[in-house]
Amino acid sequence: MIKRITGTKDILPDEIRLWQEIETISRRIFSYYNYQEIRPPLVEDVSLFNRSLGETTEIIQKQMFLIPHQDQTYALRPEGTASIVRAYIENNLDKTNAFSKLYYLGPMFRLERPQKGRLRQFHHVGCEAIGCADPSIDVEIIGLADTLLNAFAVNDFCIKLNSLGCPEDRKELKTSLQKKLKDKYNHLCPECQARFNNNVLRILDCKNTSCQEIVKDCAVGSSHLCDACQNHFNAVKEGLRRIGITFTLTEHLVRGLDYYTGTVFEISHSSLGAQDAIGAGGRYDTLVQELGGPSIGAVGFALGIERILLATKITLQDIAKDLVYLIPLGTNAKEKVLELLHHLRKEGIRTETDYEGKSLKGAMRAANEQNARFVLIIGDDELQKESVTIKDMQSSIQDQIKLSDCTEELKKRIA
Ligand code: HAM
Repeated sequence: MIKRITGTKDILPDEIRLWQEIETISRRIFSYYNYQEIRPPLVEDVSLFNRSLGETTEIIQKQMFLIPHQDQTYALRPEGTASIVRAYIENNLDKTNAFSKLYYLGPMFRLERPQKGRLRQFHHVGCEAIGCADPSIDVEIIGLADTLLNAFAVNDFCIKLNSLGCPEDRKELKTSLQKKLKDKYNHLCPECQARFNNNVLRILDCKNTSCQEIVKDCAVGSSHLCDACQNHFNAVKEGLRRIGITFTLTEHLVRGLDYYTGTVFEISHSSLGAQDAIGAGGRYDTLVQELGGPSIGAVGFALGIERILLATKITLQDIAKDLVYLIPLGTNAKEKVLELLHHLRKEGIRTETDYEGKSLKGAMRAANEQNARFVLIIGDDELQKESVTIKDMQSSIQDQIKLSDCTEELKKRIA
């Protein structure tokens, strides 16, 4: 038998309502913040990612799904930001809609070693605000991530915040870090020894405990920030406090993608184990220009849907509470039920029936398995009285109502 690729998942009908709930909540919240959906392709020219994410990043070095095609190489997108910036520039949004607030939902691909919460095909819900450098947008974006997680019933998450500063500040940060780590080079793990020259900032968030011990003494603080970046960061912190968002300043937070400038943040959740980041984001004020667009600021984030589903308190029972299950008892009742089924569905009521003529007990079991909110029973007695028996599956209370009142009564009780 041919099996699915390691690190990918079939999302089965059992789980799909939770996924749809996350998607529905996302679209609703994004609309409150006036973000519009964008759907770039899943496959892009690999050079887009090489240029955006940085040649020395882990994603580019070892996690890309590559598809050679004639003299080109395509890549399945490992993240959304680069594609959205490309789409913004290629479709001249800088001329028609210079400040674009965009959101996206969809699969991303990284050839990682699979483990709990880490897949090779996973899903992002994310957004990018392109065309504004004001700190109020950093605040809006972090506030939006917070609102989304609360709406997903994800509790007790922690927003870690830092600023990398502008490219000059970052250069200074790298040099001062190299100076501080020079004498400790031999004690770094082999991966961090390679990072020392290529990507020294990543040593700060190495998961290796001995590297963590070493960098503990390399407090970077915000001394590398120029006045403008320090003022920007102060405004972000102040704005977050004003709207009641709790955050933890985390000097060692550097993020694994090269495009970040200024504000960076990561949101972690303790229930997730080793892969505890439920989402992350930040500013990338140079990326639009680097990819051929104008020099404009941008900021965004992405949350991992699989990780949201591991942390959410929303259950199927919370969502699937609108199904009405119709049970016919006998042939005449079956005809009436099929009529009623069609009518209720046309009226916008989610309905299902027992098509197979099960016993009352068997049909009730089926209704339970489908998480029905109400069961309607029609037998000879009900047919004669032109009524239906309605059972509330939560309270187990049962009563009879007139068939002609059935639609309105159900709408009232489901609301
Ligand atoms: P990222 O930190 O690479 O950022 O990914 C964001 C989130 O996606 C992570 O925090 C995690 O929840 C989830 N995630 C990442 N890799 C995996 C995986 N292999 N399996 C399951 N979930 C995963 C970005 O991708 C940036 N584009 C975020 C951004 C948007 N920055 C600015 N705008």
